[in-house]
Amino acid sequence: MSAKEPIGVIGVGWVGLCTAAAFAELGHEVYARDILPEKVESLQRGEVPMHEPGLSELLRENADRLHFTTDMGVVLDNAKLLFCCVDTPPTYSGDADLSRVEAVIEELGDSTEHAIVMKSTVPVGTGRSIARRRTDLGYISNPEFLKEGAAVHDFMHPDRVVVGAEPGSEAFAERVAALYEPLGGPIVMTDVASAEMIKLASNAFLATKISFINEIANVSEELGADVNEVARGMGLDDRIGPKFLRAGIGYGGSCFPKDVSALKQLAGNTGYHFQLLTAVIEVNELQKRRTIGKLQKHLGPLAGKEIALLGVAFKPDTDDVREATSLVLAARLAGEGASVRVYDPVASANAEGKLGGARVCASAIEALQGADAAVIVTEWQEFAELDWAGAVKDAMRTPVLVDGRNYLDRDALRAAGYDYEGIGR
Ligand code: UGA
Repeated sequence: MSAKEPIGVIGVGWVGLCTAAAFAELGHEVYARDILPEKVESLQRGEVPMHEPGLSELLRENADRLHFTTDMGVVLDNAKLLFCCVDTPPTYSGDADLSRVEAVIEELGDSTEHAIVMKSTVPVGTGRSIARRRTDLGYISNPEFLKEGAAVHDFMHPDRVVVGAEPGSEAFAERVAALYEPLGGPIVMTDVASAEMIKLASNAFLATKISFINEIANVSEELGADVNEVARGMGLDDRIGPKFLRAGIGYGGSCFPKDVSALKQLAGNTGYHFQLLTAVIEVNELQKRRTIGKLQKHLGPLAGKEIALLGVAFKPDTDDVREATSLVLAARLAGEGASVRVYDPVASANAEGKLGGARVCASAIEALQGADAAVIVTEWQEFAELDWAGAVKDAMRTPVLVDGRNYLDRDALRAAGYDYEGIGR
């Protein structure tokens, strides 16, 4: 089979759009289908619905190979490998909601020529159960490992590609693997359940690393160590590695919180109590709230205080606010009676209605004007470039700064007269 075989993409959210754009860039015709006509029309007009570096360029440069449609028939007629990229949000029980995946499967008529290639994150066992029901279709698990804000880069330079196949789908698995060969990363060919577990376990492990270093940070604060130094010293050990050891005010986003709780839930459903993940989740929730104590240490009771939150997105270079620490902080501060102002370079609009009574500002300096304290919630580069010693200090009522990402130059800020509080140092 030619490496340029046409690709179907079902569900054009963040994963689907990045996947569609990247396969088009690799020279494939891509037939991408979404159920929302407004979304499809705006993509057909060349509009990009999210902030993702490099994505609009890829979409523009490969527009002639990208076919957006609401019609599943168009996809089925033109492509045999159907990448399922619909979302699987958490339910109240912590299980993943598979209704969108099931709706897609329902729509596929019986055709032994087609294979569903699951990119949506699904519970371990989902693929096997779909494959047993739909013996007419091929079934491949091909989880995504894209970081928001670096998704295009991650797609084009994969650490690994995972392709899981059910017996009988081996030929489809070879075709899926062939699509990624030009990218050069290792390709892990495995069974479907293991592929599904690789995805969940990878996210759970990364979240564990973060909660671990956050606990080391909290203990370091008490014992006089500097968590940045500790992480540097630990990370040089090849077996540990330096990545995901940045202490901060907790992880957020649409993936870690959801996938960690889905894996915990999945284990629980089998009767196994996944103690470690229970702690990872709890540590993260408490970490988001620790900022309140740091503010109180300098300001006393927060009632009536003006607090500026710099950053709303769950991390820089994205406008995604799902499970962002900013939302918890804004609500907690309001609960303490503080007045909150927020600023984010791109994400504020997405947080509308989720920030309590916080005032959304058009610039960092507007948010800082008259503030009793500022909190770095998201490490946007723009915040490092502010004139902290000059214009910012003049604007704030009192120079109290909680750097929730250990992002700014602590020594320079202290020298400039700030009461600087980092995380774990
Ligand atoms: C994460 C994974 O990194 C991707 O591999 C995966 O494909 C994706 O989830 C997914 O399942 O779709 P993402 O949620 O975009 O990607 O963001 P990350 O860059 O992993 O950051 C997650 C959170 O952890 C952020 O809130 C970030 O601020 C926080 N973090 C990250 C830390 O607090 N410390 C660190 O050292 C690293």
